[in-house]
Amino acid sequence: MQPLTIGPLTLDTPVLAAPIAGFTDAIFRRIVRDLGGCGLIYTEMVGAGTWMQSPRERPERIEGIEDEARPLGVQLWDRDAEMLYAAARELAALDVSVIDLNFGCPKKRIMGKHAAGAALLRDPQTVGRLVRAAVRGAGTVPVTAKIRLGPSLATATAVAVARSAADNGAAAVTVHGRTADQNYDVPCYLDRIAEVVRAVAVPVVANGDVRDAASALHTLRVTGAAGVMVARGALTRPWVFREITAALRGEPIPAEPRSADQKALLLKHHAAMVERYGDPWGTIFMRKFACRYLNGRPGIRPFRDAITRAADAAEFLEVVERHFPDDAGDSMWAQSEHVHEETCV
Ligand SMILES: Cc1cc2nc3c(=O)[nH]c(=O)nc-3n(C[C@H](O)[C@H](O)[C@H](O)COP(=O)(O)O)c2cc1C
Repeated sequence: MQPLTIGPLTLDTPVLAAPIAGFTDAIFRRIVRDLGGCGLIYTEMVGAGTWMQSPRERPERIEGIEDEARPLGVQLWDRDAEMLYAAARELAALDVSVIDLNFGCPKKRIMGKHAAGAALLRDPQTVGRLVRAAVRGAGTVPVTAKIRLGPSLATATAVAVARSAADNGAAAVTVHGRTADQNYDVPCYLDRIAEVVRAVAVPVVANGDVRDAASALHTLRVTGAAGVMVARGALTRPWVFREITAALRGEPIPAEPRSADQKALLLKHHAAMVERYGDPWGTIFMRKFACRYLNGRPGIRPFRDAITRAADAAEFLEVVERHFPDDAGDSMWAQSEHVHEETCV
């Protein structure tokens, strides 16, 4: 596999951790980095306009990024070129590694009220103008675009949008292989990602339904993409990056962490959340992660029901111990079925 180069940046491995609103906060990013195998990790998306209208208040989603390890990508969304220009300038001054622009969010608030995210896929020219503005603000920091296939299959604009982004200075394009109106309801169209790969000279990163080494290799083979990006699969198995990287290097795939190690990771994550947000808020914010970690494990419903009611740290620990006593062996943890459920978000 060729190294993935994004402008001046060459990644150690072409396996990227996606922006995931509500999840890829500083604590989760640290967990992913520590587990290894991830070439680039993104923050959650940040509204450029909201930030730039009160620039002294750095959005919580990028709090402390100046001290974070690199490479680090920050994702912006907006449809206002001046706001993207100004936010990109601020991020360049913070020396982030990549600035990504979101043209794929299908949420009503972003697409409808703000006419941003995936709504911009209707208008490749505007995407180009927004990319150009961000590139101007970003200076030497590379700007990338993250897109879906289009608003719908009837208006599958991905090739035109990717070309417009690349022609206006995007250093790479990530394509999630579904349209906005498909949400997550159909399997990804890998053939349509391949069309984008053939249409642009910049690297294309394929995204959607990658959850282990086998699905990553399949996606890369079918699309011809320069890299893969993982979102939901990383919430369930944050060690997935080292599995994919090992497979790409032709090395043996590391064993799934033992149950005791998975439990220790869950508890370490909870402790970090409580340290950051205090209790009960750290525990309340942690519930959604706990559900995701155990997504797809057979018989997980009683744990999920209990953990989503854990009111504070003591209750959280009690629920974990009750469902996963130290002598329980691998019965609950080991067998992820790799399903992506949109419950418990
Ligand atoms: C809860 C959730 C939040 C997301 N937030 C973002 C976001 O902030 N920015 C973005 O570009 N994509 C976001 N996505 C989309 C993912 O980055 C990714 O494109 C999509 O989930 C498909 O990849 P996957 O099959 O690996 O999950 C989000 C997805 C989920 C499930």
